[in-house]
Amino acid sequence: MSKENTRIINELHIYEKKVLKALEKSRQSITPEDIVQSQNLDIKSVMSAAGSLASKGLVKVQKDMEEILSLSPDGEAFARDGLPERKLLEILYLQKNIPMKDIGQETGLNPKDVIIGVGWLVRKKWAKIDQGMVKITILGEESHKTPQIDEKLLHMILEQGEISSINLEEELQNGLKLLKSRKGLINFDKITNHTISITKKGQELLDEGIIIQEEATQLTHHHLKTRKWKNLTYRGYDVQAEYPEFHPGKMHPLRRIMDEIRNIFLNMGFTESRGPILESAFWNFDCLFQPQDHAAREMQDTFYIKNPSTSWLPGEELVDKVKKVHEDGAQTGSEGWCYNWDKDVARQSVLRTHTTCVSARFLKENPPPLKMFSIGRVFRRETITYKHLPEFNQVEGIVAADEVNFRNLLGILKEFYKKLGFEVRFRPAYFPYTYLSTECEIYLEEKESWIELGGAGMFRPEVLEPLGVTTPVAAFGLGIERLAMIELGIKDIRMLYKSDIGWLRKLPLKKGINLD
Ligand code: FA5
Repeated sequence: MSKENTRIINELHIYEKKVLKALEKSRQSITPEDIVQSQNLDIKSVMSAAGSLASKGLVKVQKDMEEILSLSPDGEAFARDGLPERKLLEILYLQKNIPMKDIGQETGLNPKDVIIGVGWLVRKKWAKIDQGMVKITILGEESHKTPQIDEKLLHMILEQGEISSINLEEELQNGLKLLKSRKGLINFDKITNHTISITKKGQELLDEGIIIQEEATQLTHHHLKTRKWKNLTYRGYDVQAEYPEFHPGKMHPLRRIMDEIRNIFLNMGFTESRGPILESAFWNFDCLFQPQDHAAREMQDTFYIKNPSTSWLPGEELVDKVKKVHEDGAQTGSEGWCYNWDKDVARQSVLRTHTTCVSARFLKENPPPLKMFSIGRVFRRETITYKHLPEFNQVEGIVAADEVNFRNLLGILKEFYKKLGFEVRFRPAYFPYTYLSTECEIYLEEKESWIELGGAGMFRPEVLEPLGVTTPVAAFGLGIERLAMIELGIKDIRMLYKSDIGWLRKLPLKKGINLD
């Protein structure tokens, strides 16, 4: 037996096998009712098994519409007493012609039947109307005693109660047409008949031999307990069977990726922190040793807030230390930026441009050793491109301890990206608040270029000294949308905010991410 045929037979339901067996015996078209009889099944099971076999190309199910004819009360009266035109003809045959106006009286027919009768006399060419007289014709004379096809059919239906239109001879079919045109005499009930026949492929399976035996489609507690499962025959599954499309609710991929990032850092022993989105320039820039005339602070790069236009500064002590570091480097060994630091500039309210301010705030409050990460939204006045958004998310992190160094920082980032399935490369970079500084990048095949994923470095003494931190601090800030773009295989970062339901539905629920 071919492998394919064995598979098909194994996947057949027992009812399907029984239907095939019934066809084996008859070798020609049979009705579902025949199968009900021969296989001891109910009609529903036979029909559903036949449908399923037909979809597999093993049987052919033919549908024929049949019209069942029966008489209405009017039709029955006409069949018994004769059609009105027949009654009229009988009288006309004797009188040859009758004035139109006297017909009702002469025949004893009611006015409605008089109209019908005269109409059909003329239509059947048994009589003609000439100057107010109804006159018999030669055809009328000849038809006087012989019933016509419509009358024959009426009598047949009267005798048999009901008959099928399919079995009518051609002559009677014409009679049926006539009767159909006189509305209300005959009832027509439509029924559908099915006949089932074996196909070549079905016959092939029958020739191979189909054994009918009880099969288990489910393992039950009882099967296991009684050890019956050992002797059961199991029905095969068609793993390629069609299934209805199903769209369960699921998390937006960007939200899912943020959760994955959160889990990775939590698993690496980091604690999570948060900070405000509406931030003072002090925490966003000054405290990170970014001079007050730095390009990033320009209106065209940063969103300044009108209301509230200023924010609270922290205590005098920190503010003074930051001022001093900017002006002459304080005790850090640096010369600072050598300008007059302005408290009012530091008071300005901004939408934070990065999450590094969360790290600065955290360092102020928490003594090392520590490992902290933060996930949040940041804002920049950017021209939108395939990799730039004006509002996006970053994951920020710091590791502070006596023995922490730049190599540890690279190791942490490598490990983080590896858990997400990426290999990154590092290149030297510049940030006002770190030294050494680096940027991590990943290669984009379709753009044939490297895309920057994040910045990192060791916080400078000018950042750490005012905050009172004496250990080295490794810091990083990574773009989340860029990561999502690569993980989801999209070419344009805007797709993440498009709410394209077709795309969202097709995305797998979760990509395997290694959290070990
Ligand atoms: C920073 O934001 C630094 N604060 C990172 C840092 C933290 C350095 C701590 C050193 C120490 P940068 O501006 O390069 O760096 O932004 C970091 C990442 O955010 C970028 O690599 C990129 O992945 C993402 N990013 C930046 N601008 C956009 C944008 N417009 N749209 C989407 N993602 C962006």
